[in-house]
Amino acid sequence: MEENEALAILDQMRIEIDELLEVLIEEKSKIFGEVATISGSVLLAGGKRLRPIMVLLAYEMAGGENLEEVMPLALAFELIHTATLVHDDINDQADTRRNKATIHSQEGEAKAIIAGDWLFVQGFGLGGRYRGEVVDVMSNCCAKIASSEFHQLNHVMDLTTSPEDYLEVVKGKTAGPFSAGCEGAVMVAGKPKNQSDAMANFGMELGVAFQLVDDLLDIKGDDNMGKPRGSDVHEGKMTLPLIHALTLLHSEERARLGEILSDFKDEYFDELIELLQRSDSLSYAEILIENHLERALSYLDVFEDSQAKELMRFIVSKLSDR
Ligand code: IPE
Ligand code: IPE
Ligand code: MG
Ligand code: MG
Ligand code: MG
Repeated sequence: MEENEALAILDQMRIEIDELLEVLIEEKSKIFGEVATISGSVLLAGGKRLRPIMVLLAYEMAGGENLEEVMPLALAFELIHTATLVHDDINDQADTRRNKATIHSQEGEAKAIIAGDWLFVQGFGLGGRYRGEVVDVMSNCCAKIASSEFHQLNHVMDLTTSPEDYLEVVKGKTAGPFSAGCEGAVMVAGKPKNQSDAMANFGMELGVAFQLVDDLLDIKGDDNMGKPRGSDVHEGKMTLPLIHALTLLHSEERARLGEILSDFKDEYFDELIELLQRSDSLSYAEILIENHLERALSYLDVFEDSQAKELMRFIVSKLSDR
């Protein structure tokens, strides 16, 4: 498939998801008023819709033929994802999300917490329609987001955080939801455990790569992020490039890195990047991203060739140039 054709199909899927989310917020606003409108403002602000798109593709890859059957699950994962973003932005003190002012910065923390809860509940309302084992996959992944966010908080400003801690956090907060969405979709398509397991592993590997890319972007900065650069370093979040550099650098350089991270200011960005380059920590993260993406692809082998599989592979190939 040509790149342009793949992009056009994925864009069409995104538009359809957007339309359904718009209808949902319109309907819910009639019943719930302000909380639905405010939650809708971030939900409809234009995310990439990667999670619901992957739910739909995973379902089709597993031979599912009636997209309507899986659509509530796809939307559920986008609603849950957006709920985590609203809460995450309070905790990370972020002012912008999806190129818009965050809810807590506009409406205050109290309303932002409730708006996040509202989005979570709407997600569960949709995802809760499926049989118990699918609901379990969804609720376990949400519980894991919470426990891994606690894990992350327990390592704020902890310069001795290990790569294992990092991986544990990333699997829980980011990769888990990708994994659960993909796994649930295969279950909805009625396929056996070896296929839902393969898709769960695929989502987990892709999700780890996705967060590694996000963490690199947070350090390097990018105009298309729609959210502030350096949020992690300002908040003392220990991402892999930092953990790697703290291990590899010696004497003054190591001391300076510790100093910079302990009280980060925007004017340190150039120096931080220079230190991370001294220890090859950015390239290390880049290599790791490619490793996780390769492993992700290998889990797709159990699925027959199809257009959906090609599109899923295309997503993998584009993940690192976000
Ligand atoms: C942001 O996710 C949160 C992370 C897990 C890094 P996305 O980058 O998918 O955000 P949207 O949905 O496109 O806004
Ligand atoms: C993603 O981590 C956490 C979520 C599960 C929402 P980040 O804190 O890095 O996400 P961004 O960078 O704010 O999107
Ligand atoms: Mg965060
Ligand atoms: Mg954040
Ligand atoms: Mg981030």
